[in-house]
Amino acid sequence: MRYPHLLSALFFLAAARPLSDPEPRWDDIRVMHAWEVVPAGWESPVTPPAGVTIDLSIALNPETRMPWLMRYMRYGAYLSQDQVAELVAPHPPTLKLVHAWLERHGVPSSSISTSHGGNWLTLTSVPVSKANYLLNASYQCFLHAETNETIIRTLSYALPEALHPHVQTIVPTTFFGSGDSQTLQQTSQVHHNDIAAAQEQVESGEPVKPLSSRDTDVTPSLLRSLYKTETYAPADWGNNIIGTVGHSGLSPRQADLSTFMAQYRLDSDYASYVVVLVSGNRYDSQNPSVEMNLDVQYATAMSYPISQLYYSISSTSDPFVTWFDYILTKPDIPQTISMTYLVVEQTVPPDYAKTVCDLFMQLGARGVSVLCPSGNSGVGDGDCIVTDSFGNAHVQFRPTFPASCPYVTAVGGTTGSTPETEIAAPSPAVASPPSLGPSHTSGTPYPGISVASVTSIKASSGRGIPDVSAQALRYVSITRGQTVYRDGTNCATPTVVGIISMLNDYQVAVGRPALGFLNPWLYGDGLAGLRDITSGSNPGCGTDGFSATTGWDPVTGLGTPDFVELQRVLPHPPY
Ligand SMILES: *[C@@H]1O[C@H](CO)[C@@H](O)[C@H](O)[C@H]1NC(C)=O
Ligand SMILES: *[C@@H]1O[C@H](CO)[C@@H](O)[C@H](O)[C@H]1NC(C)=O
Repeated sequence: MRYPHLLSALFFLAAARPLSDPEPRWDDIRVMHAWEVVPAGWESPVTPPAGVTIDLSIALNPETRMPWLMRYMRYGAYLSQDQVAELVAPHPPTLKLVHAWLERHGVPSSSISTSHGGNWLTLTSVPVSKANYLLNASYQCFLHAETNETIIRTLSYALPEALHPHVQTIVPTTFFGSGDSQTLQQTSQVHHNDIAAAQEQVESGEPVKPLSSRDTDVTPSLLRSLYKTETYAPADWGNNIIGTVGHSGLSPRQADLSTFMAQYRLDSDYASYVVVLVSGNRYDSQNPSVEMNLDVQYATAMSYPISQLYYSISSTSDPFVTWFDYILTKPDIPQTISMTYLVVEQTVPPDYAKTVCDLFMQLGARGVSVLCPSGNSGVGDGDCIVTDSFGNAHVQFRPTFPASCPYVTAVGGTTGSTPETEIAAPSPAVASPPSLGPSHTSGTPYPGISVASVTSIKASSGRGIPDVSAQALRYVSITRGQTVYRDGTNCATPTVVGIISMLNDYQVAVGRPALGFLNPWLYGDGLAGLRDITSGSNPGCGTDGFSATTGWDPVTGLGTPDFVELQRVLPHPPY
């Protein structure tokens, strides 16, 4: 079964003939997901103009095969693109049923293609009126108050009861995150300073003040000394790559990277990155973003001369699904990926979250390490009061997505520039039990550690975040030739990405597989290469949050990297 698209074509033909089973009752529908109110930030719903079309992507349930995929997330047991596609291919009855439903609703087979590595169907150019009819939805154009960005989404959608066991989610429907940074939680500020203000200051040429009042600037030389990467020289044979996933049509700028490297990596020669346009996005390097410059500058400075790719994703498409559709169809994927999108988990529909987490699992099975910031608002922003179905109000912490996926490595934040003084940064790093459900998290964040052992976490069925941490305050970066200071776990993320990439460089250089999904190693042998952070806390939601403590904690995870020690405990044969 090497060619799943051929297979789906066959089943489509099969479905086109009269079904031998009695036709399901397509009018017996049940809601897949619905919001009671319009998600925060979006307003003025208006009916899309006649003739507007959308591309609908349907994630099909691979049913029992996901646990198999998980087995290949073990170190060195990685799969190729074709092998993953084979494992995640939908069951034949699933394809048959979905095609029967689409045919019944007059969706032409020519508009249906397989996507996202095999278990998604994408229907191109579906008129909004037809999408409303198919999904009992009411698609509207929603305007984002701050950015004037318009997206087409629905507040609810439903599917025939018979399809519920077969369909994981449909995109776009009720996930209101778009590629636009203003609609995503900003990842690079601890104290909620307006990043737009920093961007404006840079654009107007005003000096940009540091956000935090720490006395030590964080630069590549401080990080390289603190995390002990200084003495390692990557071989960079061109087959170990870092991929930085950009968003919102935001761009880094080559000239700023060159200035940064000339100032902060004196030993470097010309450093650059290759831009990959995803989803026909236009890349505007004349309009550099502080965020993306920082990501690229630290990933590069921490791993020079390892090759860098920058994925540019348009501002109007779904930030996750668009990138996955691109990357999963590539035979070769960068070994280390920096993903700095971040949204509050409660704003992510559960069906969507679970499906996207499965896509991260596919990356793990293909031997890719994905790192994400864990968030900057302690255990949550605001009072975090929610009212349960009995009308009782209580505080619910606000973990972030995709850090809350069990198949990524979430990075928290520290401060203090020596091993003796390094503590949890006052605000970055978030944790609490997310709600992806027991089947997804198996009651532990990953093999080897039980969240229940941290007594202050009440529910034991969630994934705890972060996994590791690194310096997160007062990072020095360059935009439009100016020095800009940033705080946040998305400063810590490219730092850890650079370090992991150097470990991958070593593994590849000595003929071993790349590290792949990091957590089983980090929570096992890799633990010896992490420095435990035992003080500091992550207040938020009007509470003191959690405290850093001996061993894993929901503030700094397992601790900060010690490259020399990590290199010593790398996986090696026999596995
Ligand atoms: C279908 O849509 C109608 C009209 O919007 C709504 O009243 C009904 O509750 C929906 N049914 C389901 C199951 O979503
Ligand atoms: C959004 O549109 C309004 C009215 O057209 C305009 O005043 C405002 O400056 C726009 N905001 C942005 C961020 O473009």
